[in-house]
Amino acid sequence: RKVFVLNGPNLNALGKREPGIYGGKTLDGIADECRTLAAELGFEVDFRQSNHEGVLVDWLQEADDGAAGVAINPGAYGHTSIALHDAVRSIDVPVVELHLSNIHARETFRHTSMLSPVVAGVICGFGPGSYTLALRALADILEN
Ligand code: DQA
Repeated sequence: RKVFVLNGPNLNALGKREPGIYGGKTLDGIADECRTLAAELGFEVDFRQSNHEGVLVDWLQEADDGAAGVAINPGAYGHTSIALHDAVRSIDVPVVELHLSNIHARETFRHTSMLSPVVAGVICGFGPGSYTLALRALADILEN
């Protein structure tokens, strides 16, 4: 069983990007944590990042055939993208949305997510822990 962990814009800069908000861990470090946990949970992780909205749409579509589930940190596109909303709606595999920061405790333009109404659930505010919690949530969904 494979799950996709998808990352949107600017997340490639984790580690040096606003560490006071996002922490000091790099995306590669987070990917390693995800792979370690996934092995325990009995699945394989395909971990990807893109700064391009359409690429994220392509990967969500690919997940429909190629994955058992998706965890996605859409970055800022979560707040703006009807295309990502539509892509999530159009696929049959469960999707968990995640954010490192607590988007509800930040600027008002981060309080809404285009994805939240169409995903299985949302995890935010736990730093890199949001990724491992999202994987546990996916494991739970896939088992029940
Ligand atoms: C983010 C929160 C978004 O508001 C922001 O645009 C990001 C990262 C997070 O993980 O906390 O790029 O998704």
